[in-house]
Amino acid sequence: MKHVDLRSDTVTRPTPGMRHAIANAEVDDDCYGTDPTANALEARIASLLGKEAAIFTLTGTMANNLAIGAQSRSGDEILYEAKAHPINYEAGAPSAFFSVQTTGIQAERGLLKAEDVNAHIRLKTLHQPDTVLLSVENTHNAHGGSVYPLEQLHSLAHVAHERKIRAHMDGARLWNAAAAGGHSEKTLCEPFDTVSVCFSKGLGAPMGSALAGDSATIQRARKIRRRMGGGWRQAGILAAGVLYALEHHRERIIEDHRRATRLSTELAQIHGLVPMTPCETNILMVDTHDSPLTAFEWNTRLTERGVLQNVFSATRLRLVTHLDIDDESIDYAVSIFREIAGT
Ligand SMILES: Cc1ncc(COP(=O)(O)O)c(C=O)c1O
Repeated sequence: MKHVDLRSDTVTRPTPGMRHAIANAEVDDDCYGTDPTANALEARIASLLGKEAAIFTLTGTMANNLAIGAQSRSGDEILYEAKAHPINYEAGAPSAFFSVQTTGIQAERGLLKAEDVNAHIRLKTLHQPDTVLLSVENTHNAHGGSVYPLEQLHSLAHVAHERKIRAHMDGARLWNAAAAGGHSEKTLCEPFDTVSVCFSKGLGAPMGSALAGDSATIQRARKIRRRMGGGWRQAGILAAGVLYALEHHRERIIEDHRRATRLSTELAQIHGLVPMTPCETNILMVDTHDSPLTAFEWNTRLTERGVLQNVFSATRLRLVTHLDIDDESIDYAVSIFREIAGT
């Protein structure tokens, strides 16, 4: 039986080229700041995102945590979109580790508007928490990989700065946002104080993320990473795989988008399935509301036939394309969907 894993873009296996780079990595001890490959990766990310400095982290969650820790104090408030990853899928990290108050602002397709953000930044009074940070997700995972138009994205950082708060971008899938919108990563990041990116998603690296920003903020983040147990020693082992992925897997991301769109078009023809549109990047949400099967039943039947995906809610499946999904994988997935639907 064929095995098509559309659960997430995090399920990829390192390619032979990546394994070769990992096996031959030059390393030392990153806690002394002397691992040459980890240092090279941090310098490459800072330059790619147009920031003074960057820090390599284990996960995107850790990078988002460092952004909070380096830019807030206990009792402060951080603004997010209501379905943002840090306040829904990071196990309560902002409150557990940093005692900050989080506020989620609902936005169509997860894309915040400057006027809504402005309305939520509190006046500085004795009674209210100090709003200190805005976090923006691009692309937006829970909203099906939606992408901010450039002007709207930048207007968020501008309103934050006008109101004297800082702006962070959760760019776990910044690579996808760049590929879809036709703007470089550096352009997208330009007005943001800090940006987190993931290497384990669109790029297909086995693990790793980074936080980029000004040198003072990244220095504070380095201390917090150490405190959280994220001071890793021969980090160059993984950094070598990431450098390989940045070099070889960034330009092909548009292929993932093309395949997700094709999947969306094909599934839309199956009675009862309604793919969420537009499908702009590599994440496809499929509504099962009008289908005789629930999302859980679809999940069981598809999994039995080797098509792995995620139940996102009782009436929604999430399917994600990535480095290990080719055109044949899409053909197979569509054929199994059709078979189950009896069409
Ligand atoms: C938008 C977004 N931010 C952050 C993360 C966290 O990344 P990690 O799983 O590496 O902690 C994810 C993971 O899926 C994500 O989708």
